Amino acid sequence: MFKRFISLYYGSIGFSEALVLVYGLISAIWETDEQKRRKISEHINKYFPNTKVYSYSSARSSIAACLGAWGIGPGDKVLISAFTCLAVPTGIIAVGAKPIYADIKHSSLNNGEDQLINLIDDSVKAIIVQHTMGFGVSFSKIKEIASEKGILIIEDCALSWGAAKSGILLGSKADAVIFSMELSKTISTGWGGVLLSRNDKLSIRLTEHYEILGKPGFKRVIKETFQTAISGICHKPGIHWIGKYIIYLFFKFKIFRYSTPDNEIKGSPSSDFILKLAGPQLMLLIFQWKKMSAIQFQYSNNISYITTSLAALENIKISDYDDLQHAVSPRICFYTEDRQLFTDWFLENGVEVGYWFDGPLSPLPESEKFNFDPELFPNANAVASHIVNLPFHCRLTPSDVRKISSLVRNFLLKYPEQKLIWLGL
Ligand SMILES: Cc1ncc(COP(=O)(O)O)c(C=O)c1O
Repeated sequence: MFKRFISLYYGSIGFSEALVLVYGLISAIWETDEQKRRKISEHINKYFPNTKVYSYSSARSSIAACLGAWGIGPGDKVLISAFTCLAVPTGIIAVGAKPIYADIKHSSLNNGEDQLINLIDDSVKAIIVQHTMGFGVSFSKIKEIASEKGILIIEDCALSWGAAKSGILLGSKADAVIFSMELSKTISTGWGGVLLSRNDKLSIRLTEHYEILGKPGFKRVIKETFQTAISGICHKPGIHWIGKYIIYLFFKFKIFRYSTPDNEIKGSPSSDFILKLAGPQLMLLIFQWKKMSAIQFQYSNNISYITTSLAALENIKISDYDDLQHAVSPRICFYTEDRQLFTDWFLENGVEVGYWFDGPLSPLPESEKFNFDPELFPNANAVASHIVNLPFHCRLTPSDVRKISSLVRNFLLKYPEQKLIWLGL
């Protein structure tokens, strides 16, 4: 009962982050949000020079703000991956545009360039290039076509914060970039999104919009700050056995809110969908971004440990290994034959298993506004029913990494007829 449990959600918030949130709340007395935002811009510009930095209440609202500023609206199409979170098309329908999906390559979980290029027509006004689970998409051909046609490219680094390809950080090449700071991501402020713009026309319009944009009310800030701090702590491995009941009760009594509310699943984002990021979260944002080099270092050590320990096994395939990738991601993904068997094995041994993205647009939407039919995307659909994700975030201790690695190994030894494909790597 009191067993240590490695959750998918204790990756980014612990006691120190909870304290920073409280400090951020009090710091409103001597520091304005504007001053905090300036510090954030200075810091983020060290990694992404010559970009304008905007922070919003979520990454999905960053997408909407960006599309809106580019003048995208009803009648326009935006290309995205068919293997993604519902939040992405939600940002598109929030401005009245239509999401159009491109299938993925089986092994990389990413769109191939041609899969996106084949969908470009005169109504396509933006393309969201999603770098899934820390693995970068090459999109130089798309860039050429997009600049001829005036199409906006947004790199979606929600699942790839800190990841690099050929030594260049993902998020360094497009007109605009988004990062998600939601609880399940590599770094988090509970909820939050960062948008970078390196396009002058876009930046002018974004700045105009940002100046008049509202921020969450005091009650919401307190509730979200409380939820972030309590959830991070309740997901800690030693506390999770009781923490999960506390989290359950807070959701039951509607003190906690889900990251995707019902109205968004129904295709009706709320009127305050796009808001500025609030003060306490701004304070935590800068604290979190400062960890980038340490997280990159730790992640690459953890990945080399687990790849080495699994290398000699015959029933695991590491698909299309590309040694120029330096993935950083909150989870690692495997393609399983029997997903239930794999899940039961890990749960029995105290490790949570996730299913991103089992929709393959997840959660599956109820509204036609999303324009999504899984059957049209055979690769994404095939992966969706077999994929599993294991926690691989930066708060894993060396003994957690050893444990996860030996559990994968022991699963493969115990069930030699089962085959696993390590996706992305
Ligand atoms: C690939 C991807 N992009 C964007 C988002 C949106 O992030 P947020 O929850 O901050 O709106 C998500 C959410 O999980 C995601 O997985």
